[in-house]
Amino acid sequence: MSQRSCLSVILAAGEGTRMKSAMPKVLHAIAGLPMVAHVVKAAEAAGATGVALVIGHGADEMRKAVQKFAPKAETFVQEQRLGTGHAVLAAREAISKGYDDILVMFGDTPLIDAQALAAARQKLAEGAAVAVIGFRPPSPAGYGRLIEKDGHLIAIREEKDCSEEEKKIGFCNAGMMAVAAKHALRLLDKVGNKNAKGEFYLTDIVEIAGAEGLDVVATEASFESALGINNRAELAEAEAIWQTRRRREAMLSGVTLIAPETVYFSHDTEIGTDTIVEPNVWFGPGVKIASGAKIHAFSHIEGATIASNCDVGPFARLRPGADLRNKAKVGNFCEVKQATIEEGAKVNHLTYIGDARVGAAANIGAGTITCNYDGYSKFFTDIGEGAFVGSNSSLVAPVSIGKGGYIASGSVITESVPDDALAFGRARQKTIPGKGKELRERFASAAAAKKKAAAE
Ligand code: UD1
Ligand code: CA
Repeated sequence: MSQRSCLSVILAAGEGTRMKSAMPKVLHAIAGLPMVAHVVKAAEAAGATGVALVIGHGADEMRKAVQKFAPKAETFVQEQRLGTGHAVLAAREAISKGYDDILVMFGDTPLIDAQALAAARQKLAEGAAVAVIGFRPPSPAGYGRLIEKDGHLIAIREEKDCSEEEKKIGFCNAGMMAVAAKHALRLLDKVGNKNAKGEFYLTDIVEIAGAEGLDVVATEASFESALGINNRAELAEAEAIWQTRRRREAMLSGVTLIAPETVYFSHDTEIGTDTIVEPNVWFGPGVKIASGAKIHAFSHIEGATIASNCDVGPFARLRPGADLRNKAKVGNFCEVKQATIEEGAKVNHLTYIGDARVGAAANIGAGTITCNYDGYSKFFTDIGEGAFVGSNSSLVAPVSIGKGGYIASGSVITESVPDDALAFGRARQKTIPGKGKELRERFASAAAAKKKAAAE
C-alpha cells in the first residue's frame, strides 16, 4: 500500500449554521487545533501525499487558516452547494493529477483515525474500486444506510430515500471513502440528482461502480471516529473524547496523571517519562516537557519548554517562551514569559519574570518583578549565575545583575549591578526610640475627643 500515492479530498464547503458562529465551522478547534486540521493530519498519517480542500462558506478565512496548518494543501471553491458528489468534483483538477487513491473525507469529522483510512486504502490495493467507511451509530437516523450483499456493498441509501426495511439497517455511511483514482472522475460524472433532496450524492458512485462490474466494499470504523460535529455541544463531546484518548496515551507512555480527567492537553503537547502531572493542569499549544518533571496542581502552561527534573507550580503560569532548564523551579503564583530559567535556578513565590534570563542557581525572592514594559517597548533583564534577588524587588529593564550579585529586598533596581556587588535601591531605615508609643497616645486621645463631640 505504501507504494500507492494518495490524494485526500476534504469537503468543507458547508456553512455550519448550527454552530451559530462568525467563524467557519471546521475552524473551530479541538485541543487547540482547527477540526479540519485534525482531518488533514489523519489523512497524512494514512499516507495521503496531496490534500485538496473544498471550501465555500468563509473562503478567505479558510484559505488563511489552511496556509498555517497545511501550507501545501490546495483549496478549491465550490460556488454552489449542490451535494457531496458535486463538492468532490470541485477538486477535479487535483483528482486528475494521476494519484492512485483518492480519500474523500469531511472537514467536520475530526476524530477520524488514520487506521480506518488506511484500512479503506488497503481495499483499493487489493483491487476494489471503492471502499466506503461504515460505522454503527447508537441510532442510525439521519445517516445513509449501507446495503451489502455477499460481502460487497451494492448501494448507500440516504435516510430520506430509504424504504421502511432499509431504515432498519444499523450499518451506516460514516461519510468517508477511498476511491481508485483511475475510476473516480468517470464515476462522479455519472452522478445525477434525482433523489429526495435534489442533490448530487457522492454515495451514488457505489451503485454506479457496481453497475460497471467494479468491486465495491465497506470497512468498519468506530462510532467515535466517525463523529460529525454540527454544534458546540458536539464540539465539546469530541474534545472530551480526544482528551480521553490523549490522557491514556500519555499514561501508557510513562507519564503519571494523578487525576487524568482534570488534565487538558493540546494537540502538540510533548511529555517525557516519569513526569508527574498533578490535578487540574492546562497545557496550551507548544509545550515540551522532558522526563522527571513535576507539574503541580492548577498550573497553566503554554509555549513553554521544561527540561528534566524541573518543578512547576502549584498555580504557576508559564507563557510562550518560558524555557526552564534542568532542575529549575518555578513555584506558586509565579508568571514566566519569554525568559530562560537556567539550571537549578529558583523562582519560588509570587513573581513575574518576563523578557529575562535567570542564571544558573540564582534565587529570586518572593514578589520580585521584572519591569519589562514602559507602555511602548519591551526590555530585557539579565540576572547572572548565582545571583540573589531579595524579596519584593523591582528590576527596571533594561538592566543586568552580575554573577553572584546581591539585591537587598524591597529594592527598585534601575542601574546594572556588577558581579558580586550588593545593591540597595530603597530608602535607609530610620528608627526613633519611644516614637511609637507617643503616636499611639496621640491617636487614641484624638479618637476619644471625636467620639465625645459626636455624643453631645
Ligand atoms: C452524508 C452522507 C451520508 C452519511 C453522512 C455521515 C452523502 C450524500 N451523504 O450525509 O450517507 O451517513 O454524511 O455524516 O454524502 N458538503 C460540501 N458541499 C456540498 C455538500 C456537502 O462541501 O455541496 C460537505 C459538508 O460541509 C459536510 C460534508 O460535505 O462537511 C457532508 O455533507 P452533509 O450535507 O452534512 O451530508 P449528510 O447529509 O450528513
Ligand atoms: Ca452531516
